[in-house]
Amino acid sequence: MSESYKEQLDPESQALLSDHHHNGPAVPPTRPSYRTFRTRHLVLAYAAGILSAVLVELLLCSHYTIPFLQSSQSRPSVEADFASPDAGSTEVHHFPPTSPTNVFPSLFPTDVGHAGPTPTGAEAGLVATAPSYPLHTGAPHLVSPLTLTKNASKQDASPSFDIFKHWGNLSPWFSVERGSFGVDSGPEAPDTCRVTGLHLLHRHGARYPTEWASYGGPANFSGRLHNAAAGWNASGQLEFMNEWTYKLGEEILTPFGRQQLFDLGVSIRMKYGFLLKNFTESNTIPVFRTESQDRMLSSALNFALGFFGYPFDGQYQQSITIEDNGFNNTLAPYKTCPNAGDRSKSDRGVEYVKTWTAIYLKDALDRLSPQLHGYDLTIEDVFTLQQMCAYETVAIGYSKFCELFTEEEWKGFNYAMDLFFWYGSAFGSPVARVQGIGYVQELVSRLTHTPIPVHNSSTNATLDDNPATFPLGQSLYVDATHEVVVLNVITALNLSNFAEGGPLPADHIPEHRNFKSSHLAPFATNIQFQLLSCESHADPQIRVIVNDGVVPLTGIRGCPEDKDGKCPIPTFVDAQREIIAKTDWNWACHGDWHVPPGPAWNTTTGDAPEPGTV
Ligand SMILES: *[C@@H]1O[C@H](CO)[C@@H](O)[C@H](O)[C@H]1NC(C)=O
Ligand SMILES: *[C@@H]1O[C@H](CO)[C@@H](O)[C@H](O)[C@H]1NC(C)=O
Ligand SMILES: *[C@@H]1O[C@H](CO)[C@@H](O)[C@H](O)[C@H]1NC(C)=O
Ligand SMILES: *[C@@H]1O[C@H](CO)[C@@H](O)[C@H](O)[C@H]1NC(C)=O
Ligand SMILES: *[C@@H]1O[C@H](CO)[C@@H](O)[C@H](O)[C@H]1NC(C)=O
Ligand SMILES: *[C@@H]1O[C@H](CO)[C@@H](O)[C@H](O)[C@H]1NC(C)=O
Ligand SMILES: *[C@@H]1O[C@H](CO)[C@@H](O)[C@H](O)[C@H]1NC(C)=O
Ligand SMILES: *[C@@H]1O[C@H](CO)[C@@H](O)[C@H](O)[C@H]1NC(C)=O
Ligand SMILES: *[C@@H]1O[C@H](CO)[C@@H](O)[C@H](O)[C@H]1NC(C)=O
Repeated sequence: MSESYKEQLDPESQALLSDHHHNGPAVPPTRPSYRTFRTRHLVLAYAAGILSAVLVELLLCSHYTIPFLQSSQSRPSVEADFASPDAGSTEVHHFPPTSPTNVFPSLFPTDVGHAGPTPTGAEAGLVATAPSYPLHTGAPHLVSPLTLTKNASKQDASPSFDIFKHWGNLSPWFSVERGSFGVDSGPEAPDTCRVTGLHLLHRHGARYPTEWASYGGPANFSGRLHNAAAGWNASGQLEFMNEWTYKLGEEILTPFGRQQLFDLGVSIRMKYGFLLKNFTESNTIPVFRTESQDRMLSSALNFALGFFGYPFDGQYQQSITIEDNGFNNTLAPYKTCPNAGDRSKSDRGVEYVKTWTAIYLKDALDRLSPQLHGYDLTIEDVFTLQQMCAYETVAIGYSKFCELFTEEEWKGFNYAMDLFFWYGSAFGSPVARVQGIGYVQELVSRLTHTPIPVHNSSTNATLDDNPATFPLGQSLYVDATHEVVVLNVITALNLSNFAEGGPLPADHIPEHRNFKSSHLAPFATNIQFQLLSCESHADPQIRVIVNDGVVPLTGIRGCPEDKDGKCPIPTFVDAQREIIAKTDWNWACHGDWHVPPGPAWNTTTGDAPEPGTV
């Protein structure tokens, strides 16, 4: 594979707000012991100092910017630079120092004994026991703008407007309103039903911008601004920019993102902790999965800290699958699907985004341009300023850029993200279903306690055929991945209520749309596949709950209309097997097919064009 082809293979690197990978330090392929973590990775305090034995890898060595690192993935990771200057930051704080002078490990033992009494109690089970379900609202630690720009021709922004919910995939996750997806039911166990299992699929927490952006990109804008030959200066609303520095790094989890995953771990433990009884009875511990990429590993470990507490050592095993070119990985399927690396096939959303930004940001461009002297703003720059607001907020807690736009422009930004992901990773993408199918195969395998019959997608036989690394018959599974993969999986499963209304138009926001990236793919987005045993049904039941919203399963063949969104597991499994049988990895990922750009070709099922039709 040529180098450029390899880079293209990462569709996340194409995302304008993408989750992009970097060739980080080689991580042991199978779950390393706690000790291995410690020796392999930099030790950082996760929380309040006491957690200093927990590791984090913080090695920012982008292979794009430090070419010599490309070929030496097995090099000791510690020698890497902390903040590569290439992140485009104009202000960087190198913490921790590389060789601090006051490190005396022997004076700071991590285990001094004398822990006092440590009796434990019973597990929580909010989904089963509480009269209502605890919702996830607000974003602690983040400060929203004091004001938004007012639209002269309209009333003031509505007091209920929440800017944090209008950042598409850059929104911090929140519980969607009950009924958002069309089922008027909550995540708590329906009457006469008992929760018997949970398969959780979640995204990493808030991160810095990715290294690569196909449109926009805060670092690129900042770079051009600071490199501008002629001096520039700003006035009016933009005056703060005269003193502004670009402080963001790249790719890795932010402190807020770390907290999102810790909180998610706590919340899942409080809702589903009772499922652990099952492990005690069978004398086993859970296996959770994540990928090797820095923010993925950090996300998973923070989740584990929240879920198991410190130290999590011995309470579960963390499978760290390799996210890199050429490695079969259902949680990073683009790494082995060449058509997903071909931008004409997988990056179809960008054209729609460009068309849409030219419309909804026209006023903003006219308004802001006269306030920046000596630099010609473009529509793309203005879009980037909106990204800057979201990224600065989730990284450093507050952003002055947020105030520059009206409520409608934030709705426009949110919709730009919907366009991008609909056409790039979901129902409008010809490579969406095929990329989600590997996880669907794993889900079916887990639901039926049957090994995957044939490895002909992104599944990895070495891991999936081994009951140690891919156990079956457990009551709890937790997998971490990227938003694009979450969307691929939603598409592959035929959760077609999200596709209702058909292809998204580039020239206006449809009044009703079921596909919202802020609902489906925000930071720390999470899908609960909830398994139930109900008195009213002979068969075990499954529900799909996205960010606390119950999803109708009626697009899945045979699943009945159900007021709680339930479907009998055998019916669900039969339909998924049919979908698996009809999905052709070879054709969708390797086939020589082409689709024209724009609406001349459209899918609403995330399928590649049928052989023979192109
Ligand atoms: C910004 O992106 C453009 C187009 O991709 C590229 O040519 C330019 O070098 C980038 N500038 C910076 C400062 O990164
Ligand atoms: C499967 O995963 C293992 C462990 O991460 C890795 O060593 C192996 O190369 C993978 N196999 C394929 C075909 O990608
Ligand atoms: C601001 O920049 C413009 C254009 O580069 C220049 O003419 C003007 O003198 C500058 N004003 C100040 C206050 O620096
Ligand atoms: C202001 O509101 C009017 C009327 O709803 C709308 O047409 C226009 O696009 C809005 N402008 C901005 C900048 O939001
Ligand atoms: C990796 O994926 C390819 C393509 O689907 C498949 O042919 C191969 O069997 C897989 N390898 C393993 C070890 O799972
Ligand atoms: C644990 O849970 C699984 C999946 O729900 C179930 O098949 C199994 O029987 C349970 N094991 C025990 C010991 O309860
Ligand atoms: C999946 O959805 C498509 C499009 O709505 C439909 O034609 C197909 O029958 C569904 N398949 C299954 C197995 O549910
Ligand atoms: C895997 O092989 C089966 C049996 O040949 C086929 O029906 C199915 O389409 C293939 N699945 C994928 C994802 O390629
Ligand atoms: C998709 O494109 C075809 C061909 O241009 C068109 O006939 C059809 O109406 C479009 N479908 C939708 C749902 O827009």
